[in-house]
Amino acid sequence: MVILTGNKKIKTAVFISGKGSNLKNLIQFSKRKKSPLIIKIIISNNLKSKGLRFAKIFKIKKKVFKFKKKSVDEKEILKILKFERINLICLAGFMKILSKSFIKNFKGKILNIHPSLLPDYKGLNTHKRVLLNKEKYTGCTVHFVSPNLDSGKIIIQKKIKVKKDDTPKKLAKRVLIEEHKLYPKAILKIFNL
Ligand code: GRF
Repeated sequence: MVILTGNKKIKTAVFISGKGSNLKNLIQFSKRKKSPLIIKIIISNNLKSKGLRFAKIFKIKKKVFKFKKKSVDEKEILKILKFERINLICLAGFMKILSKSFIKNFKGKILNIHPSLLPDYKGLNTHKRVLLNKEKYTGCTVHFVSPNLDSGKIIIQKKIKVKKDDTPKKLAKRVLIEEHKLYPKAILKIFNL
């Protein structure tokens, strides 16, 4: 559990690579009256991430790093995060793997959301693989980030039924709805709120 002192909001950075629906959801969560979060900055590795538009819409700082030289970019990102006094990082569809040394700097403070019931179906194309294996259930997981992909300690999961006529697209849509409920819940849980 992460201990939060005083009445201060949790200064949060959200890392994205794509659409940013989880980002948007976390921003909306942060705007709720009693929300413990304030989203200070959005980081992306992809200038074309659709989610970057939420920076403008919600007046949040954004920075893009291409991760061509990961160690150089990570150092730069760390500087920014320290300057912003960030104490929580939420990965939300972020497609780069953070290094061990980066993670060390934010031990127990980096979360990720993954569209499967981890430890099953780590990595990409989860819904396609779930359907190919004729699984009865799937879901989503919020977990702490560790140096190994999708392997950190699980915080919370939501299980849903796979339907007979599901396609990867249909399944992704239904899982995403659950992701949007689950990420705020995970944050409340780790801060014991
Ligand atoms: C989500 O399914 C998330 O679980 C996975 O990538 C997707 C990102 O979607 N890691 P979005 O960009 O938040 O819409």
